[in-house]
Amino acid sequence: MRIILLGSPGAGKGTQAARISAEFCIPKISTGDILRQAVQEKTPLGLIAKQVIDSGKLVSDDLVIDLIQTRITQSDCQNGFLFDGFPRTIPQAEALDKLLIDAHLQLDFVIQIDVPDTEIIKRMSGRLMHPASGRVYHLETCPPKQPGKDDMTGEPLVLREDDKEETVKKRLMIYHEQTEPLLAYYQQKEKTAKQLKFAVVSGVNHADQVYAKIKAVLNQQ
Ligand code: AP5
Repeated sequence: MRIILLGSPGAGKGTQAARISAEFCIPKISTGDILRQAVQEKTPLGLIAKQVIDSGKLVSDDLVIDLIQTRITQSDCQNGFLFDGFPRTIPQAEALDKLLIDAHLQLDFVIQIDVPDTEIIKRMSGRLMHPASGRVYHLETCPPKQPGKDDMTGEPLVLREDDKEETVKKRLMIYHEQTEPLLAYYQQKEKTAKQLKFAVVSGVNHADQVYAKIKAVLNQQ
């Protein structure tokens, strides 16, 4: 199964991607997590990406497409994968189409998690993250069992540098300008690609309810 999760920053893509990945046994490919890992390890990619991420802008299409090209050829992607945070622009979506055609692969689902901007700003102020795994928590709606510690490893949780209110507003603006056009792109694609299902799921309910709706879409296959 090959899936794209779309949605604004903080819509809950990472939260839902972890659940889908575990239940459907496909790797979650989060370009945000890959880039943050590179920043942490101070690799050449990380040095380029740090300032861009912290400012709320998008990393260049070429860099992200190279990352994806390498990642989807790894052995754990043989039975499918789930993109979280990719594609983010029309050129990225077009490049993905080409990569999939070259590899004789097809997309099965594009799911948009829909959350209004006002709710996003509230959510981001309480987000905590485990950098090594990408697991996310929320101070109020999804607190860790022990304050400030990851449930699985006990390692410290951190606040993301790009979750400051001003940066979140900028990320939302960029989302509306550059990523939202992908909704029309995939709606159109659904008409011509027989196996592709495009669905919009409301992301404003509890994460468990959002997941139930996503699962219902995925089980339509
Ligand atoms: P990325 O890491 O992809 O960030 P994002 O898309 O902005 O998404 P987030 O990770 O912020 O949110 P999310 O939708 O995963 O929500 P989450 O589950 O955490 O990208 C970061 C940066 O990297 C970009 O700005 C860019 O610079 C760069 N980048 C990445 N990919 C790129 C690309 N393809 N091209 C170019 N640049 C790229 O949930 C948020 C919070 O809400 C959490 O605290 C969670 O616990 C809580 N929550 C989740 N669901 C619910 C719910 N149903 N109800 C209440 N609270 C909830």
